[in-house]
Amino acid sequence: MKNKPWDGRFKKPMNPRVEKFNASLAFDHILYKHDIKGSQAHAKMLARQGLISQHEAEKLCSALDEIQVELEQKLHPLDPSYEDIHMLIEGLLIKKIGDIGKKLHTGRSRNDQVAVDLRLYTREVSLNIKNLLQELISTLNTLAHKHSKDSMPGYTHLQQAQPVFLGQYFEAYLAMFQRDISRLEDACKRMNFSPLGAGALAGSSLPLDRQWVAKELEFDGIIKNTLDAVSDRDYIMELCSIAAIIMVHLSRLCEDLILWATTEFSFVMLDDAFATGSSLMPNKKNPDVLELIRGKSGRVFGHLIGILTVMKGIPLAYNKDMQEDKEGLFDTVNTLAACLEIISPFLKSLQFNTKLMHEKSTIGHLCATAALEALVMKGIPFRDAHHKVGEWIKEADEHGLPLADIADKALKAIDSDRHS
Ligand code: ARG
Repeated sequence: MKNKPWDGRFKKPMNPRVEKFNASLAFDHILYKHDIKGSQAHAKMLARQGLISQHEAEKLCSALDEIQVELEQKLHPLDPSYEDIHMLIEGLLIKKIGDIGKKLHTGRSRNDQVAVDLRLYTREVSLNIKNLLQELISTLNTLAHKHSKDSMPGYTHLQQAQPVFLGQYFEAYLAMFQRDISRLEDACKRMNFSPLGAGALAGSSLPLDRQWVAKELEFDGIIKNTLDAVSDRDYIMELCSIAAIIMVHLSRLCEDLILWATTEFSFVMLDDAFATGSSLMPNKKNPDVLELIRGKSGRVFGHLIGILTVMKGIPLAYNKDMQEDKEGLFDTVNTLAACLEIISPFLKSLQFNTKLMHEKSTIGHLCATAALEALVMKGIPFRDAHHKVGEWIKEADEHGLPLADIADKALKAIDSDRHS
């Protein structure tokens, strides 16, 4: 059993079950690059402030570079006795360069360290999500232009309502994803501040230069209040809530397409390369991709509730509860990215049955509101016009005709009455 970096006051080694239970290395190891980046900036600042020598800072930075390569090559086992990625990297550093390695943590706590890592991580993944959203918006834009004149039935309550254009439909989703990008950009503005130098909670008596580290890490500034710096997880809650809203939009889009791909609707044909079959029924062609996106929205919503609940009852400042912020966040980001990566090529592969959609928009009673408005334009009060068109619909149903047949004749009759 290895000694802990904090075990000076302890008389007994840690219980192995506590060691296993306490560890986060199994999931926080993905933060290794962010942790190293933060540590290198911290080491350079320590040298600038005369707290370590220039030579020591260079040794620390180059050893950290080597450790990054070794971790990328998976050369180090994720031994839970290190507890977390921060202590694994520090342990490896001390093994590599001895006493100089022991100076890295000067003026720092894992509390401000993990907060830096997470902000660097959320900043990076937000950019990736934004790029994926932009790809989706450009796909929707192409579809909106291609189908700008293709009419189809529009629905409310999933009952035929009024004709719309297929292009208009894509534009509606495009608008939702544009709002998502603006939400993401807005959240990034609040996310991009540096907690480093806040220490465990109360800053440090050492002459640290918080502003310099913030600049070095391309943050827009520092988080002034040190209690807030180590215990704020708003940026995680914001990212998880934006992810949840994006998943709502994706899930609605998928639900529409699942419906349109049914034999009953037949508005869209799934491409063989993007559909799946049944192990039993030879006739089946299933929209698994769409159903999976719709289904995955559930876990993303779950993670949002998870982080809100973790944060709601903990006193200032850092509490170990906050280690629970990571798995949900990472799964949210990975799930969302996977859905966004598949949806654009999926949309591009679809064949829309625009002829059938157009036919369905001309039969039935979809022109009822247009007929009503034509009557209003002829000076008939709205309520009377509504009633009149209702009567025409009754008549059309009795004769098994589309409303247009009755309405056209009736509107012409009104015109000729007026002119005679
Ligand atoms: N693994 C910890 C976390 O993710 C790092 C911070 C630990 N700090 C502490 N004082 N125990 O929250």
